[in-house]
Amino acid sequence: MRTMKNILVTGGAGFIGANFVRFLLEQSAETRIVNLDALTYAGSLENLKDLPSPERHTFVHGNICDRQLVDHLLRAHQIDTIVHFAAETHVDRSIQDPGPFIQTNIVGTYTLLEAARQYWLVEKAFPHHAVRFHHVSTDEVFGALKPGDPPFSETTPYAPNSPYAASKAASDHLVRAYYHTFGLPVTISNCSNNYGPFQFPEKLLPLMITNALEGKPLPIYGDGQQIRDWLYVGDHCEAIYRILEKGAVGETYAIGGNNQPTNLMLVETVCAILDEEMPDSPHTPHKALIQHVPDRPGHDRRYAMDITKISGELGWQPRQGLGSGLAKTVQWYLANQAWIAAIRQQQDYQRWLEQNYQKRGHKP
Ligand code: NAD
Ligand code: DAU
Repeated sequence: MRTMKNILVTGGAGFIGANFVRFLLEQSAETRIVNLDALTYAGSLENLKDLPSPERHTFVHGNICDRQLVDHLLRAHQIDTIVHFAAETHVDRSIQDPGPFIQTNIVGTYTLLEAARQYWLVEKAFPHHAVRFHHVSTDEVFGALKPGDPPFSETTPYAPNSPYAASKAASDHLVRAYYHTFGLPVTISNCSNNYGPFQFPEKLLPLMITNALEGKPLPIYGDGQQIRDWLYVGDHCEAIYRILEKGAVGETYAIGGNNQPTNLMLVETVCAILDEEMPDSPHTPHKALIQHVPDRPGHDRRYAMDITKISGELGWQPRQGLGSGLAKTVQWYLANQAWIAAIRQQQDYQRWLEQNYQKRGHKP
């Protein structure tokens, strides 16, 4: 089992990154974290309040494309492990403006890889076996499944359909190439849709929960029969930790929750949970707020993940069932209304709702 001392987490003020920082501080008493995040619209220091053992966490406000800064951080903190979350992540935004996706997801990943190669392989800052670059990626690089197709696995050919997915696919290829060409010790994980605390309310579940709380319409793209594989964020964090500890260099791991509801079923379940949690709400039954709106261009119909490899080789399984995970998530949003209010007031967020939903003929 590999031990890690000083970890550079990129994008640790975003949804999964902030959950991972918390997980890591609780999990391991020795590790120190340097958290590099540009604090784009999706990142917030609100996500990093009340951390356990905050003395082992250093936040750095900066961009992964800034090579000088990355070089400095690697040396100043003697980084032996990089866990790379930072990315532009919203498919709908990538359809409106792909530019930032190319910059952060491709150029940013290249910048980190080059900096790691220089420090770890050229300068030989540590023994080869002591360092690791873990790249956090998505199932969207594999494209869409037809009904009856087997789930995605580590051997599925890449077929990305959105600018977001294409930029993540490009970054995966770069990481793979740095392993094969230079021998950089890397691992890659491709995970399905995450849900849970601190998810920015542009994504399906937090958008539905926060809209429903205000009695606003719940916009379902197209017929709502699209299928995603949903994984509780804490389970994703644990999977990444297992890979860091026990994963084999150069390997890719598929991660998923073994849950494949349609979007409509998922949103109806959330509405039912809200009805139970808030029986006196004037918006009960929340299901009545659902509205179908024009579809996302190029919308992938179905994703599903085969987790045989990570289960068999690393002993990882999702712990959280979808029903209890959704209930926990709704309860977290109900208990954190100040967090929601801070985000929903942001000008950028309001502008995004107008841009994305008004053009669908839907009042945000
Ligand atoms: P997020 O959008 O919530 O957070 C992204 C974070 O990256 C933000 O804190 C943002 O400020 C930061 N960031 C963006 N550009 C940056 C830059 N140039 N330099 C430094 N920081 C920058 O994203 P998320 O949902 O937490 O996803 C994290 C990672 O996991 C991404 O790589 C994503 O592709 C991958 N992933 C996400 C999911 C999911 O369902 N959310 C599933 C599988 C994989
Ligand atoms: O599969 C992993 C991916 O999951 C991650 O790589 C992405 O970063 C993450 O954003 C997520 O992508 P999706 O496009 O699947 O997530 P999103 O929450 O945007 O949408 C989930 C489904 O819900 C999708 O089929 C589109 C639909 N949807 C979404 C929104 C925002 C709606 O029907 N209405 C909406 O308003």
